[in-house]
Amino acid sequence: MNDLIGHFDREADSYPVSFGTDFIQARKWALIEAHAPVQGLAADIGAASGRHALELAVRRVTVVAVDPSAAMLERLRHQGQARGLENTPVPCVAALPELPFTDASFNLIYCFSTLLLLTPAQQERAITEMAQALRPGGILIVDVAGARSLAIRYWRRHYRRLGFAGVFGQRANDTQRMITDNGLRIVSSEAHGVLSQALLFPGLEKVPGLVRLVRGTETRPGWDARVSKRLPGLAERWYMVSQKPEPGAG
Ligand SMILES: C[S@@+](CC[C@H](N)C(=O)[O-])C[C@H]1O[C@@H](n2cnc3c(N)ncnc32)[C@H](O)[C@@H]1O
Repeated sequence: MNDLIGHFDREADSYPVSFGTDFIQARKWALIEAHAPVQGLAADIGAASGRHALELAVRRVTVVAVDPSAAMLERLRHQGQARGLENTPVPCVAALPELPFTDASFNLIYCFSTLLLLTPAQQERAITEMAQALRPGGILIVDVAGARSLAIRYWRRHYRRLGFAGVFGQRANDTQRMITDNGLRIVSSEAHGVLSQALLFPGLEKVPGLVRLVRGTETRPGWDARVSKRLPGLAERWYMVSQKPEPGAG
């Protein structure tokens, strides 16, 4: 774990502080925005340098930015100051699968591109921990990697070469189960990456215009969105939105 934190500490200066510009990245913010409370408390788990937390903090939402990398959170803090945010995200150095929060604290918890750094068993514990930290009616948004995807194999090799344990996915059914087992109701599930993972083949990313056609733009879905919708079982990632029921809700 310390090695992994060191890795992200070293990435902090170059990690993006704005949303990605393709459809697959832009959907992360679109989901956060669609489910953000008008006011209240949100937690960004694996917040890095704040690409989503800084944007959410512009609203009347208090955002707790959780990350084990102190360097990432320091960059987030500087970015908040540089943007003149009154409501700067509150940095919190912590790591899944444990969270230092009391139960039923948050209206919204989201966690993108982070669960895959945990083993499948830790991912299950992490979902339980996040579900417990949600208030009744609160929303959890996570992305889960597909265990059988090409991309997870590619990134596993990449991380192992760097000396880390690797990255881990789940099967589609297990993804749904680990959410519903924690008493959450699935609101939506969208598949991404069935086609875009092919861009990992050497040279393809350099074909003029191909990345844009496949991954789409901030506002326009690419070929990947269409293919992934038809073949969700082969996804590289599922973006899952779920809700903790209010007491007495049927
Ligand atoms: C790939 S970045 C994702 C950043 C951002 N959520 C996004 O969607 O772009 C992963 C972040 O998770 C953090 N991280 C690593 N292990 C973690 C853990 N066990 N719990 C929470 N965050 C973790 C890293 O320090 C890093 O900042």
